[in-house]
Amino acid sequence: MNDYPSFRPRRLRRSEALRGLVRERTVQPADLVLPLFVVPGKGVRRPVSSMPGVDQTSADELLRDATEALQLGIPAVLLFGIPEEKDDVGSSGYHPSGVVQEAVRLLKRELPELIVVTDVCLCEYTSHGHCGVLRGETVDNDATLPLLARMAVSHAEAGADIVAPSDMMDGRVKAIRAALDVKGHTDVPILSYAIKYASSFYGPFRDAAESAPSFGDRRGYQMDPANAREALREARLDIDEGADLLMVKPAHAYLDVIHRVRMATELPLWAYHVSGEYAMVMAAAERGWLDGDRAMTEVLTSIKRAGADRVVTYYARQFARRAREG
Ligand code: PBG
Repeated sequence: MNDYPSFRPRRLRRSEALRGLVRERTVQPADLVLPLFVVPGKGVRRPVSSMPGVDQTSADELLRDATEALQLGIPAVLLFGIPEEKDDVGSSGYHPSGVVQEAVRLLKRELPELIVVTDVCLCEYTSHGHCGVLRGETVDNDATLPLLARMAVSHAEAGADIVAPSDMMDGRVKAIRAALDVKGHTDVPILSYAIKYASSFYGPFRDAAESAPSFGDRRGYQMDPANAREALREARLDIDEGADLLMVKPAHAYLDVIHRVRMATELPLWAYHVSGEYAMVMAAAERGWLDGDRAMTEVLTSIKRAGADRVVTYYARQFARRAREG
């Protein structure tokens, strides 16, 4: 009678106290990074319709959101800019008083302890919406590198704590590292979106950042969703070029990739729970098809369980508010 079953896994599931004691992974507000979208002007707050709870804001309003995040225990924000004007080389992206540069200055002045990460990519600043400069209908890799480097330097000069290239040009980590070093920013780390897939889950972001390509798509530079081995190669290349932290993006649909990269490298590893992954849970929750809070907590826990150290998510504040309520 006593010899079967010899081990009863249910013994450790009998109460929340016991479950808590043997829990392998938890998500804390300190694990989360909040993306924010900054637009020109003052007192501007425009909801993004495909991302409930996410707004485009001017820098003064952004400061409110960042202040709340910090008070809730979220240590870092990731900034995206939507400029007044776009051109074919994205020059508003590396202007010293561009929309992101000014927002960084304000945040670092008012909230010096907040870690400000900036997205480095041309797509929000180019009239054609591609992540680099064009030669004909293709993005010219090598002609794009100096512009990305200029953008990263302008962010560092404004006081960014970490620069995060998301453009997927080959060699950009090396180019950015060299430019930062020449300008004396040897201490500014690079968070490389080393592993970024050409994903349909970026749809809502392109509404928020007004960055949808005007023709074609990004499959000529972002990774094929079918490939996982290639992720290790991308990671290795960026490590060799001097990346300090790595990002996998998207996260929820790429848990296997997070796991593999975690096993293959010892760098800090972040994962980006992207706009579409956020929007689909929010949409189902709005319809009453899912318990939104529980589903989000489960997703974020899964991303950590797969091996991510930190998670970039639009849900960061909602999560932290809930954690505070207990
Ligand atoms: C810029 C960039 C994108 C995202 C982050 N940085 C969009 C894209 O590559 O089209 C997507 C983030 C999200 O979907 O939440 N290149």
